[in-house]
Parts: sequence; structure tokens; C-alpha cells
Amino acid sequence: MDHLAKALDQLREDNLYRTRKLNSTAQNVEPIINGQKVLSFCSNDYLGLANHPKVIERFVNAANESGVGSGASHLITGHHESHNALEEELAEFIGCEQVLLFSTGYMANLGVVSSLATRNSSIFADKLNHASLNDAALLSRAKLSRYAHQDMVQLEKNIAINNSVSKIILTDGVFSMDGTVAPVKTLQLIANQHDAILIIDDAHGIGVLGKHGKGCTENLLSNDEILIGTLGKAFGTFGAFVAAKKETIEWIIQKAHSYIYTTALPVAIAEATRTSLQLINSEAWRRKHLQELIQHFQDRCKQTGIKVSASSTPIQPIILGSSETALHVSKKLLESGILVPAIRPPTVPNNTARLRISFSANHTKEQIDRLLLALEQLVT
Ligand SMILES: Cc1ncc(COP(=O)(O)O)c(C=O)c1O
Repeated sequence: MDHLAKALDQLREDNLYRTRKLNSTAQNVEPIINGQKVLSFCSNDYLGLANHPKVIERFVNAANESGVGSGASHLITGHHESHNALEEELAEFIGCEQVLLFSTGYMANLGVVSSLATRNSSIFADKLNHASLNDAALLSRAKLSRYAHQDMVQLEKNIAINNSVSKIILTDGVFSMDGTVAPVKTLQLIANQHDAILIIDDAHGIGVLGKHGKGCTENLLSNDEILIGTLGKAFGTFGAFVAAKKETIEWIIQKAHSYIYTTALPVAIAEATRTSLQLINSEAWRRKHLQELIQHFQDRCKQTGIKVSASSTPIQPIILGSSETALHVSKKLLESGILVPAIRPPTVPNNTARLRISFSANHTKEQIDRLLLALEQLVT
């Protein structure tokens, strides 16, 4: 084990060592972390639903009615009426033929990609895709070809010269560390032209983007794409779903190991998520407020010289380069009571360590101004 101790030391020396912060409060924008009350900009609870009284109430009542554990996998006896109802409601929300719940987004990605791709397939993936999509591609044993972030010319070139019998394009919808949005229309065009399956993981877009919160494919989704959404972010609960044609979902149920060989999501989570979905549908003000915060932040960064990347999503990265600098700025912010994580390689490419600021509909403009003031002193 000596080699592990040495490797851990090396991570520390390279400023790549990761530690866990201890949260002692419910999810909100001013949690107590490691005993300190902070103003937090590092949650994916974009709509502020994780701690919403109605979601909690439904969760508690459902646990009283149906217990906590689901007891078995979906294909044995774990599939409950509540899962079914949530799948139907999500299918209606997204506007697709069928939806299938998974226990996490990570598992959804592994399951979908590995059940559709084989050794004879080729996968074309954006270089900045989430780790779960990269792992999914590796698990499938398909040939993996990665194109530069959102470089549609390179994708088109790579796919045109490829003669695999089955081709799959894999992309994040909203890129988790950059806040950029996939060029859905162009991807659809390329997928159509080259008879490829397009899989979009919109973990960070669902609930947030689009007038109705349907994500980056709102008004664009056809019957051909496969859309993956997570429930642990804007929905404020836990789990994930895949939206696709009936036949595709049937195939995934038959083949996806991360669906077949795991315990079903707790029923109370499914019920709480149904309440979240109602709130996503009925409380458009959350998305509107979030967009106002994003615009305010982008405008003020421009005025003050804070070099934030252009992003129209609640993910607002400030790229600082070295891990050391990113850690230093994050630490300084924490000293003034503001929590913004330093994101370092391998989560992001080398020399692009950054602050990943994320906003919630529960933030106020005054809180954004407090962040701006602190950033002005540290990164201009
Ligand atoms: C783009 C993307 N896909 C998938 C996941 C995994 O989702 P989950 O947390 O539900 O496993 C994440 C979350 O971290 C993500 O950012």
C-alpha cells in the first residue's frame, strides 16, 4: 500500500487532492459547511426545490404510505404504481413516446449507451462530455472518437469517413463545467444525414432551459433522439430518466445492466418527484428569476472586468488556469463566507482549473452582488 500513500502525496503536491465538506443543514443557499454559515454557489439545486415544503410533505406522506425501501429491482417486484405514474407524467412533460426511470444519471448513461452500442459501433463524443458518458462509451467497447468541444465540422468529418454499421453521437445538453449548450439542431442534422443515434444528456438543462423547462431540446425534440435527464439537480430529488421511442425503451429494459441489476428507486422519491414536476410546470417564475440573476451576473462581470465565460445557464465558470490559483481563490472566497468550488483536472482539461459558480432560484440579487464584490477583489 506504500504506492497508494505515495500517489496520495503526489495528488496533494499537485493541488489535485479532493476532500469532502461536511454539510450540517438542509439544502439551501446559506448552508452550514464545516461549521461555518456560508453563502453557497455550488449546488445543482437550480430551481430551489430540494428543500421545498410541498416536495418534503409528499415525500414524508409517501414514505408513510409505501415505506422507504423499494425492496427489489424493477424487473422483480420493485416497480411500483408511483414509478409508473412518474414515467407517464415525465413522458407527457418531455413530449416523447416513453420514459424509463433509472436510479441515478450515472447509471442511466451507462445503461443506455452500453445497451445500444456494441464492439462494432462507433461513438462520436464531445471532448467535454461528463465522465459518466465517457465511462459509458468505454463500457460499451465501441470505438470512441472524440471531437473538440462543439466542433460540428470535426464531428461531421469524423462521422463521414467512418463505416461502422452503427454510429452513436453522445453529448451533454448543458455542459456541466462550462455552462455551454449543445447545438441541438446541427447535431440532429448530422445524426440524420449519417444514420446515427443521437443521445443527449441534459442533466443540467432539464427544468431550467426553455420557457417550459423542458431543457435544451424544448421545441426541438423529434422521435429520433434519446434524451437523458437527471432528477437530483433542478428537480431537487434523486434519480434519472431516459426519454425515447417505445421500442428503444423496451430494448433498454431488456439489456441495460444498470437498470436490471439494481434496486428500484424508493417510491417516496418517485412521489416527491411528481410534486417537483408539478412545481416545474406551475412555477415558471423560478426559471425567470434564475435567468434574471444570470443576466445580472454576466452584465456586471463585463462592467467590472471579471472574466466569466459566456454562459446563459446557471453554470457560470471563471477559468483561472492552474489548480493552485483556483484553490487559492476558492479559499479566499470562503474566508469572506462565500462558497464556490475550485474545479480541477481531471474533471476539466489541464490548465483550465476554474471556479464553477452555480445559481439557484433561491438566490437573491443582493447575494449575487455580494459574490460580485468579492470576485472583483480577487479575479480582476
Ligand atoms: C452531465 C451529467 N450527466 C450525468 C450526471 C450524473 O447524474 P447523477 O448525479 O444523477 O448520477 C451528472 C451529475 O453529476 C452530470 O453533470
